[in-house]
Amino acid sequence: MRVLSGIQPTGNLHLGNYLGAIRNWVKMQDEMPAMAAKADMAKPDKNADSQCFFFLADMHSITVHEERAQRLKNVREMAAALIAAGIAPDRSVLFNQARVPAHAELAWLLNGTARIGWLNRMTQFKDKAGKNREGASVGLFVYPVLQAADVLLYQATHVPVGEDQKQHLELTRDVATKFNTDFGVDLFTLPEPIIPKETARIMSLRDGSAKMSKSDPSDMSRINLTDDDDAISGKVRKAKTDPEPLPDTFEQLAGRPEAANLVGIFAALTGEKADSICARFAGQGFGAFKPALAEVLVESLRPIRQRFEQLKADDAALDAILLKGAARASAAAEPTLRAAYDAMGLMR
Ligand code: ADP
Ligand code: TRP
Repeated sequence: MRVLSGIQPTGNLHLGNYLGAIRNWVKMQDEMPAMAAKADMAKPDKNADSQCFFFLADMHSITVHEERAQRLKNVREMAAALIAAGIAPDRSVLFNQARVPAHAELAWLLNGTARIGWLNRMTQFKDKAGKNREGASVGLFVYPVLQAADVLLYQATHVPVGEDQKQHLELTRDVATKFNTDFGVDLFTLPEPIIPKETARIMSLRDGSAKMSKSDPSDMSRINLTDDDDAISGKVRKAKTDPEPLPDTFEQLAGRPEAANLVGIFAALTGEKADSICARFAGQGFGAFKPALAEVLVESLRPIRQRFEQLKADDAALDAILLKGAARASAAAEPTLRAAYDAMGLMR
């Protein structure tokens, strides 16, 4: 069993990234020893040394133009945020993709396997390219091939991602299957996406039909992991709701996306069932619920923010962590990369 995931180091982390992605990484990291023991007993596999790999997808981030200094800053900040959120560099392999050239190398090899028709179907490309497809970068188009390389390089079995990445994981499986078939090898492991149901989509605080995102122009639409206590409380107070009171069950919030989102956030942070939260606040308006939610958010995010501020102030320490992670990642990637060159008859 091997867990792997990546995140683009682009600007600030928000509550959606934390609940939809990072927190699940931490959960999987923490549960890994127990899960691996169970899996190994069932069927000994190629990954005797089960481990979690988490990386900053800085090579993917070139699909968005960024100044040099900002990109350097983004990678360090995102590393600090991941560690602050609970990724432990001594238990998980934490690194930035650019430091492990095997990613770019395998991506090139897989460009021979991936089909243009497959990439044409990727909804993320369509969304990000918008109307001007001809003007989009080639990198944006082949982005999913690099992502497939990220996953296949480490023989990852479990890939915790947000719902929006499901299609890229399916493509990864298609690439792996075609490569194995075309070259008559049993090289790449087919990965499973791990998508949390409850927190798959955290919505904007201003619009219950849009997901919380760093690209929303309104900062009031999201809770950033850097927001202080007052900012968090203010954003919750001003969050869009409706005049109806809370119902007895979560199901009855159907058709009230903003209200359902706030209850969902409360549930995700406390672990309490959404139904039980509704039952507790039933008949009361959001004037009663919002302060309780603000308190939960403030208390949950404060320790992460404090640790983040500390870590962020020490570039040398962060660089040392990333350097060590990259060395471990390179070593883990090497056998698969070598086998891929060999399967294709490329002398290396
Ligand atoms: P953004 O939408 O802010 O640009 P990214 O696309 O960089 O965020 O996503 C980084 C990770 O966070 C992905 O795994 C994605 O699935 C997850 N994620 C982003 N926004 C949300 C959200 N609103 N709810 C749940 N998960 C999210
Ligand atoms: N494309 C992912 C995202 O936008 C980030 C990513 C890059 C990734 N490589 C990966 C996720 C490999 C999982 C596995 O969120």
